Amino acid sequence: MKIITVIGARPQFIKAAAVSNIIRKEHEEILIHTGQHYDENMSKIFFEELNIPKPEYNLSVGSGGHGKQTGEMMGKLEAIYEREKPDLVLVYGDTNSTLAGALVASKMLIPVAHIEAGLRSFNKNMPEEQNRILTDHISKILFTPTETANKNLKNEGINNNVYNVGDVMFDAVLHFKKLAKQKSSIVSELNLTKNNYILTTIHRAENTNDINRLKNIIEALNESNETVVLPLHPRTKKYIESYGLNFNNNIKVIEPIGYLDMLSLEEDSKKIVTDSGGVQKEAFFMNKPCITMRDETEWVETVENGWNVIVGTDKEKILNNIVNFNPTTEQKQLFGDGNAAEKILKIINQNLK
Ligand code: UD1
Ligand code: UDP
Repeated sequence: MKIITVIGARPQFIKAAAVSNIIRKEHEEILIHTGQHYDENMSKIFFEELNIPKPEYNLSVGSGGHGKQTGEMMGKLEAIYEREKPDLVLVYGDTNSTLAGALVASKMLIPVAHIEAGLRSFNKNMPEEQNRILTDHISKILFTPTETANKNLKNEGINNNVYNVGDVMFDAVLHFKKLAKQKSSIVSELNLTKNNYILTTIHRAENTNDINRLKNIIEALNESNETVVLPLHPRTKKYIESYGLNFNNNIKVIEPIGYLDMLSLEEDSKKIVTDSGGVQKEAFFMNKPCITMRDETEWVETVENGWNVIVGTDKEKILNNIVNFNPTTEQKQLFGDGNAAEKILKIINQNLK
């Protein structure tokens, strides 16, 4: 069977690292990189470190407005689908690359499989929420990471071919954690000591594109009296510069890093403060308290289980939780058993016999 996989943004490379090589054991996979992320440390580093197959196509669309970026991907994808005639198109998550990959396939009557289906923030202002809903409604096979995701789909009338396989990011963490231990020395390179620093990431449009939200976040980190490590997403860097915001000396701002360094920093951190979807889950997998700088989360189980707290961008709330949020509850197994990719392969085989 010929399967086209469409990826384009950092978290999708990590998800594909857990799935592509497993798919390739039994099928011909054609990997398309849309070029949504293109800096070396936002793209190439993941392919090299994580042994992700080299993409057969790179659309090189680069950055741009949602319409232009998604539209350009769609035009180029259509030509490739036309030529390659895949039996299935596989997409991940909720980015513009996800929607472009799914929408073109759907219009060409090629079945779509969506990995990480069913997540909802119920905030339709988020581009990701729009991408998720649209993608789920045109997908033939929906792979969900959690029970909540199944419920969300049911509530929208999507009942067929929905499979809770667990989270491929859990597969990835289990698989790459040992390699990270062997290969990464970032903790000592940055002169950090175990359980003695906060790891932070910020990149959500709702936070970067609003000066007050971003200012609150930076001020909270500046005033936290903690060593804070901040691998800075290029989007956030751009906005911080344009708003003229400054960091205090307690914040170590570094370039975006590879996944192995990221896992090491997560594992040795004291707490994680983030607005990332993937990093919220990794905090849970690593047993680290997570302080989420958003007004809601798709990963509600981590909050219900007591390991994640939603603080928005209220400076005092962020500061208060950096000091006081210390989960003690036992963690439940909420994201499957670490074999999501193998389950996905089996289900694809059953569905497309
Ligand atoms: C995208 C996804 C978001 C995901 C995130 C993962 C959408 C709508 N958003 O957000 O869901 O959480 O990826 O990181 O698809 N830039 C660079 N170099 C790069 C990539 C981006 O400089 O390699 C800068 C550009 O100025 C660009 C900006 O970052 O305009 C935003 O990039 P974009 O891919 O549009 O959105 P993300 O914020 O990365
Ligand atoms: N990540 C990384 N290097 C970084 C920041 C994040 O490897 O400098 C990884 C992180 O460990 C997680 C994924 O990127 O696996 C999350 O991606 P991101 O936060 O960009 O997007 P989201 O998950 O919010 O869509």
